[in-house]
Amino acid sequence: MPRPTTTYVCQSCGARTRQFFGRCSGCGGWNTLVEQTTAASDGRRRRPVAEPADGAEPGRARRSEPIAAVGERPLQRLASGYAEFDRVLGGGLVPGSLVLLGGDPGIGKSTLLLQSARAMAERVSVLYVSAEESAQQVKLRWRRLAQQVADAGEPPHPSAAEAEAAPPAAADLRLLAETDLELVLQELESLRPQVAVIDSIQALHDAELGSAPGSVAQVRECAAALARIAKRQHTALVLVGHVTKEGMLAGPKVLEHLVDAVLTFEGDRFASHRLLRAVKNRFGATHELGVFEMRDRGLAEVSNPSELFLGGEEPSSGSATIVACEGTRPLVVELQALVSPTSYASPRRTATGIGTNRLHQILAVLEKHMALPLSRFDCYLAVAGGLEVEEPAADLGVAAAVVASFRDLTLPSGTVLVGELGLGGQLRPVGQLELRLQEAARLGFRRAVVPRGSGLGPIAAGLGLELHEAGTVAEALVAALAEKAPLFNEEKSGRQER
Ligand code: TYD
Ligand code: MG
Repeated sequence: MPRPTTTYVCQSCGARTRQFFGRCSGCGGWNTLVEQTTAASDGRRRRPVAEPADGAEPGRARRSEPIAAVGERPLQRLASGYAEFDRVLGGGLVPGSLVLLGGDPGIGKSTLLLQSARAMAERVSVLYVSAEESAQQVKLRWRRLAQQVADAGEPPHPSAAEAEAAPPAAADLRLLAETDLELVLQELESLRPQVAVIDSIQALHDAELGSAPGSVAQVRECAAALARIAKRQHTALVLVGHVTKEGMLAGPKVLEHLVDAVLTFEGDRFASHRLLRAVKNRFGATHELGVFEMRDRGLAEVSNPSELFLGGEEPSSGSATIVACEGTRPLVVELQALVSPTSYASPRRTATGIGTNRLHQILAVLEKHMALPLSRFDCYLAVAGGLEVEEPAADLGVAAAVVASFRDLTLPSGTVLVGELGLGGQLRPVGQLELRLQEAARLGFRRAVVPRGSGLGPIAAGLGLELHEAGTVAEALVAALAEKAPLFNEEKSGRQER
């Protein structure tokens, strides 16, 4: 029997060596060598070559065909039992697809999947493979979660289409506590479940490979073997992946290429809410956001997350409210700024939830176009609720919070601000404004400051929103603060207007 051979392959230039080096001798890159083991080919795992995934006759030679002749079949989806999970998946799990769920340890990945497995098992057959916890541990957790469902009164509803397709059957959830890949594959082949959860891919190991569980070669080989089986028998496979110290989904990019969807589960360990996002999704949109809350009996869905990201009742100086859009979901979020004279040679700028570079840029625009001497002030910025806001539509809100803190003003309550700042101080239009205004109105906001030319006047009036359109950041801030006080250096602004 040939021995498996280990080589180290550089991930940037492809050079191979038999020995590990910290630095690639080919391209000079640091830490780019990754262990790769070629499995011994003794034929022990000779599974048939994958059959066509679309269900064509297995024996038929596969040829190309005109695209018009390719049969289209509607994508079936299995509801995960949680609307928030389904939203991120793009409508539910697709049979035969591979989903990777990543996240920090202890964030709640196992809880989410066990809850979801529980709900799905009401309608389809589910296999839960626990490679990290013993069967007893999983059972204990399952009991704890069962109480939640009992407390809530009824299990989550299946979608109407599915209820027709599969009448509710007795819960078909099977548990396998195993780390050996070969045994897991055997179980998958004999049970042919519709959904399988592997918790986690790093804990599985293939005895044929010499390397340790969790190493790159192991993770890749295990995932590839599971993927082949899943595609062949139309099992929807959910893999749990750990995030490494560097914040990467372990088993680096290889795994991300292999799977159909990459979801990340994140959240502050000190706060109870958890955010589920799609980083990659072959069957739906990315950037969708699902919000959960960790309770003592498992995760509960938060269907109205804006309330989570809103601060206290009373607006305080230095706070502003924006409407961010995560995918198709608008979120009303509070921003807070603290601007105070600096005692350092170069002022401190700290931002949580917004990129520091973005903050630097907004401060520079305010300094230049509103003549505010911000370079002599420290500036701290925070997004309430630990949310990360990446989109530039938050710019105007950041500017308003900074100016409000600088001038010690309070924005009138019930005001939201949306708009991107150009470097010239102009306010740029943003997408999905109507959706954002609807969300703001729904939560009881009465005024909105938006970029000029939105054309949403009548709609805003219908929503009961007082709409202020502005062409520049200065105009927008005057409108937002309802001209409470002279905002900026009068001579400078006069000069600009001329
Ligand atoms: P877990 O799902 O084990 O995390 P992961 O699989 O991502 O490592 O979640 C563990 C945390 O969740 C743990 O700190 C306890 C907490 N938890 C609750 O607060 N309530 C619950 O009902 C459960 C099951 C877990
Ligand atoms: Mg776990």
